[in-house]
Amino acid sequence: MEGSQDVAVTAEANEDQTYWDRFYEQAHPDLLEPSSFARLCVSLLSRDESVFEVGCGNGRDALYMARSGLRVLASDPSPVALAEVRSRMQREPFDHRLRLVARRMENLDDRHAGALGAVYMRFVLHAVTAEVASVGLSWASRNLRPGGRLFVEARSVLGSRYGEGQPAGRDAFFQDDHYRRFIRADELRDEIVGIGFRVNELVEAGGLAVRDRDDPVLVRVFATRAHARHS
Ligand SMILES: C[S@@+](CC[C@H](N)C(=O)[O-])C[C@H]1O[C@@H](n2cnc3c(N)ncnc32)[C@H](O)[C@@H]1O
Repeated sequence: MEGSQDVAVTAEANEDQTYWDRFYEQAHPDLLEPSSFARLCVSLLSRDESVFEVGCGNGRDALYMARSGLRVLASDPSPVALAEVRSRMQREPFDHRLRLVARRMENLDDRHAGALGAVYMRFVLHAVTAEVASVGLSWASRNLRPGGRLFVEARSVLGSRYGEGQPAGRDAFFQDDHYRRFIRADELRDEIVGIGFRVNELVEAGGLAVRDRDDPVLVRVFATRAHARHS
């Protein structure tokens, strides 16, 4: 039955925790520097702005944002990834304003309702199911202040790796031992607009995050929380 298969795919996708724990148990010297997306987003924000990163991994971007003078909350469900961030905070002391949140995006609460200056989601929307991504984006809409910024970077369906591996639902595949769901730029834009954002810029291109032989086509969305609240 299609319905029950969807449930199974969702459960498996959300059990990728073990994969991410193992991934961050390994050293990834090539993933220590901030991403080009983080550098760009920081240049668009004022110092002291509060930023919530969803799915921060080893903290490469969260640490950079904190070092750049932003007040950062960085969340991830992987205790191994968060331990790596903590250890980097100790190894590379700086006057940081970085707090860690051990949560999946679907379990974030609304304690920052209407207060955050920016929400940053890099390479995390393609790591979760469409349902979970929608929960995370709605959370961002509720917790950003009017005029607050949403920054998303994720793999596009136009990337050459689309279709590799074992099918795992619409636009999704188990590849490299984990779940990847490729993003349709128009659908992401429509969803974001539908929950109360103005899209300032949408980029869909390769050459933005080349790693080894992987040059994914990415969707980048720069959006602003509209002033009028959607009901
Ligand atoms: C590809 S890594 C990206 C990490 C980091 N943002 C970066 O750009 O290097 C995906 C991250 O998403 C996290 N993740 C997986 N499922 C998640 C969920 N449901 N909510 C929040 N983060 C999740 C993983 O633990 C992992 O750290």
